[in-house]
Amino acid sequence: AIVGLPKQPLKGRHVLVTAGPTREPIDPVRAITNHSSGRQGYAIAEVLAEAGARVTLVSGPTALPAPPGCTRIDVETAREMLAACESALPADAAICVAAVADWRVREASATKLKKRPDASPPTLTLEANPDILATLAAHIERPSLVIGFAAETGDVVREATAKRARKGCDWIVANDVSPGTTTFGGARNQVDVIDENGCEVWPELDKHAVARRLVARMVEWFASRKG
Ligand code: CTP
Ligand code: CA
Repeated sequence: AIVGLPKQPLKGRHVLVTAGPTREPIDPVRAITNHSSGRQGYAIAEVLAEAGARVTLVSGPTALPAPPGCTRIDVETAREMLAACESALPADAAICVAAVADWRVREASATKLKKRPDASPPTLTLEANPDILATLAAHIERPSLVIGFAAETGDVVREATAKRARKGCDWIVANDVSPGTTTFGGARNQVDVIDENGCEVWPELDKHAVARRLVARMVEWFASRKG
C-alpha cells in the first residue's frame, strides 16, 4: 500500500500501460527487438492495480507473469501495440513504458531467408513505426494524463525536455542508459521526472519504488485537478 494515501485512491480510473519490447519480424524465424525486460512497466501496472485502478497492460514479449489485477493484452509489433492501445481507450491516464522498435522491416519475408554461398547477405529496408505515445497524446480520446519514458544518453534532461515537447505528453520519466548504467534489464533505476514546471531529480530506487513514487504522483495530480 502507499503510505499516507487512501487505500484505493485510483478506484474508478482506467489506466493504460505499455511495457516490454516490441518484436518486428524479418522472416518467420528472425526479428528486430531490444533488451527491454518489461520490469518497470509491469511494476507500474501492479502498483496501479493495488491503488484501485482498472489497468490495461499492453505488453510486448516478456518473461514476466501478468501482475495481479491487470488485464494484459499481448502484442508483438509496434502496429499491434498501437491498435491494442487505441482499442483500450478511453482511459484516464496512459503510461508508455514500452521500448517500441523505431523501425520495422518494410517487407518481412514469408519464407525463411536462406544463406547462399554465391550471394551477398540480404539488405533489410526499414520503415518507421507509428509513435504510440505521440498518437495517444494527440488522440481525440486523449487520456487526461499522458506519461512517457525516455532512455537517453548525454544531456539526459535536455533531451527529455525536448522529447516531452515533441511527443505532446504531460510528463516524461527520463533515465540515463549510457554505458555503465544498468537500467535495461536491471532492478534499479535513477530517473528524472520532467513536467511543465521543469525537472524533478529522483534518487536511485528499485523499479518497484520508482513505480510507487510515480503512482503516488499520479494520485496527487488527479486529486489536485479540478473536475
Ligand atoms: N514510444 C512509443 N512509440 C514509439 C517510440 C517510442 O510509444 N514508436 C514511447 C516510448 O514508450 C517512451 C517514449 O515514447 O515512452 C520515448 O521513447 P524513445 O525511444 O526514448 O523516443 P523516440 O521518440 O523513439 O526517440 P529516440 O529513440 O530517437 O531517442
Ligand atoms: Ca526510440
